[in-house]
Amino acid sequence: MSNTYKLSGNSEASAELPSYSGTLGPDVVDVRSLYAQQDVFTFDPGFASTASCKSEITFIDGKEGVLLYRGYPVEQLANNSTYIEVCYLLLYGELPTATQLSNFENDIRTHTMMNETMLRLFNGFHHDAHPMAMVSGVVGSMSAFYHETMDIQNPRHREIFSHRIIAKLPTIAAAAYKHSLGQPFVYPRNDLDYSSNLLNMFFSVPADDYEIDPIAVEAIDLLLILHADHEQNCSTSTVRLAGSSGTNPYSAIAAGIAALWGPAHGGANEAVLTMLGQIGNAKNITEYVAKAKDKNDSFRLMGFGHRVYKNFDPRATIIRDMCHKVLAKLGRDDDPLFELALELEQVALKDDYFVEKRLYPNVDFYSGIIYRALGFQPSMFTVMFAIARTVGWVSHWQEMITDPEHRIGRPRQLYTGPKTRDYVDVAKR
Ligand code: ACO
Repeated sequence: MSNTYKLSGNSEASAELPSYSGTLGPDVVDVRSLYAQQDVFTFDPGFASTASCKSEITFIDGKEGVLLYRGYPVEQLANNSTYIEVCYLLLYGELPTATQLSNFENDIRTHTMMNETMLRLFNGFHHDAHPMAMVSGVVGSMSAFYHETMDIQNPRHREIFSHRIIAKLPTIAAAAYKHSLGQPFVYPRNDLDYSSNLLNMFFSVPADDYEIDPIAVEAIDLLLILHADHEQNCSTSTVRLAGSSGTNPYSAIAAGIAALWGPAHGGANEAVLTMLGQIGNAKNITEYVAKAKDKNDSFRLMGFGHRVYKNFDPRATIIRDMCHKVLAKLGRDDDPLFELALELEQVALKDDYFVEKRLYPNVDFYSGIIYRALGFQPSMFTVMFAIARTVGWVSHWQEMITDPEHRIGRPRQLYTGPKTRDYVDVAKR
């Protein structure tokens, strides 16, 4: 279908633009010919009305609070699947057969170890370096280790890259954690499943026995599933944009990790804990809610609001239930921070400001409380998010590279700077 659009400001100007329908979600207007037809650009800072690509991976209906991975509701995957199975689904488009799953698990296991030289990179970081700084740096450095399998046009090279990075992210993250604590690095154990191995690398020490708690495994696997992908969010778009230049995929993923770190995105889980610590007590909630509503105050309720969800984030509901379960199993159901979070949620949900702006708890409102209960330091929360999202970034990068229509991402601008002017010698300025 194609429609004629009148351009305001010039009654004569119009453009004939095609529109397309996806399988779900709003139609899109194809503005690619607009510049050629009318010498105008579209203007959409923050890309709230822009579909930057076609994608078959993840669908979100923000009004209804729906999230689908390859068509499967995230609630069903959270209840029935494992993170590794979800990785297969996101990467290959279909749920695996038993044989495919077992082969995939095996492929991931055979890539969990880190090159010892890469391990030594951590010694270059100060002990109090933020783990996101270490993880993004070390992931970027992977391009210096695996250049023999980095032909991005070669499907097998892309597959090896995808297995390698999904397998190694927990190992790299655990190394960052151990470095910050000054503890010896713990090597991966390939007899363990993905989440158990992750916990073992983080929390075991050579001097003691470490028993992997099944509730911790269940909670980690769930959090990994819920964070695995989220269509064209900030970090995924960053990976696509960086990757669109043809750069090697490790560099593109490192760019995604850097984008994830910000408090408006994946850094929110750490920021929620900091905020709950600042609020400190239920009697201060009103004061902080007032600060969040004050236009002259930069304070925001971290873990609230979302660009796409204008209803409950379906992931937040699942995580809140898991939070209850984990705290109860660990005998910490009277955790004051959890109680504070529940109360803050109730106050905000009844407040006109949050109701009118449709600001609901997002995925990160409760995830930090679970991570904290399991023993992770707040600075590791966003790293956990990065581990989970790696498969989403890789799936989108693969989709982009294999899309015959893909071009280098190169937006334009509305220039508002000075018009052409002549250089003035320094003595005359
Ligand atoms: N607290 C108080 N007010 C808020 C909040 C909040 N958490 N979130 C949005 N608002 C207000 C804004 O002030 C704005 O008000 P206005 O219309 O009067 O100017 C309105 O709601 C819309 O907010 P925007 O910032 O324009 O919305 P946007 O879609 O650009 O931002 C974002 C979404 C970044 C998530 C925002 O809601 C926010 O900063 N939330 C807190 C940080 C957070 O939890 N981030 C994690 C997001 S989930 C994820 O990435 C994993």
